[in-house]
Amino acid sequence: MHRLRRLRRTPALRESLAETRLRPEQLVQGHFVVEGTGVDAPLDAMPGVSRQSVDRLVETVRADLDLGVRAVLLFGVYEHKDDHASAATKRGNCVAHAVEELRKACGEDLTIVTDVCLCGATDHGHCGVLRHGYVQNDESLPLLAEMALSHARAGADVVAPSDMMDGRVAAIRARLDEVGFANTAILAYSSKFASAFYGPFREAADSAPKSGDRRSYQLDFRNAREALRESLVDEEEGADMLMVKPAMSYLDVIAAVRESTLLPLAAYNVSGEYSMVKAAAARGWVDEARIVPEILGSMARAGADWILTYHAREALGEGWIA
Ligand code: PBG
Repeated sequence: MHRLRRLRRTPALRESLAETRLRPEQLVQGHFVVEGTGVDAPLDAMPGVSRQSVDRLVETVRADLDLGVRAVLLFGVYEHKDDHASAATKRGNCVAHAVEELRKACGEDLTIVTDVCLCGATDHGHCGVLRHGYVQNDESLPLLAEMALSHARAGADVVAPSDMMDGRVAAIRARLDEVGFANTAILAYSSKFASAFYGPFREAADSAPKSGDRRSYQLDFRNAREALRESLVDEEEGADMLMVKPAMSYLDVIAAVRESTLLPLAAYNVSGEYSMVKAAAARGWVDEARIVPEILGSMARAGADWILTYHAREALGEGWIA
């Protein structure tokens, strides 16, 4: 008889034979940056996550670094909103400021990734320039490139466009190279699906579209082949890393992209996935200490190198992932 249970008998056997392992270095903690000072405003729908001004953010990230959180993803939350997202693209915007201060405080021990998208700073909440009710692709590209450049100038290691305009990776790469930032990497949100899992994030970033939805630019959740095309196009345009987002309901896409490219791959464990776990754990319906490593571990097993997750601090601080 085949006895597969022989090798599962003791913890030592199981540990030595684990096929995939999640390492602390793979986790990237998401943060929401606001203008001003002394701000630390907890988000209702995302327990454990706050909107913070740069001074408070630096304190948080330094403490997290001591716990082993070595990478951050920064989102800007902008007060001033207009039709061309000026608050996000101007020099010295709050994300650029955060990058500078984090670099001063943490040096190269910290990997700094910034989200590049206009939705937090447009008055209509769409990810690009809106005209006649349609998000204009090519008009949005220079704005995205300027936003990415402001982050690169401040010292970001990686800029991560999440807007889903066609051609944005090439536009950003060209602009960065032109100004002398050939070493700033691009992590393309290449397979980003139009998803209900972003609900809590839109409250956090105040970035919900005021009219319509994002389905004319984000992927349809029924399409895995199209997600591969997006990935391959972004690779061809010069992306250094690719991403699948959301992650939990898209493990098949993670596995398929992994098979189709040699680039490093990131999985984004998004806000709704986080909030569902938090809500169920608060009621005692699931054991967070066990479910978080299982969820993040499944993404690593599917083929993700980086996992962007709001669980990073707790997972490392509590020793759920060692
Ligand atoms: C901006 C952006 C979104 C997320 C990351 N960048 C929201 C959206 O596209 O509506 C979602 C992140 C999360 O839910 O954690 N375009």
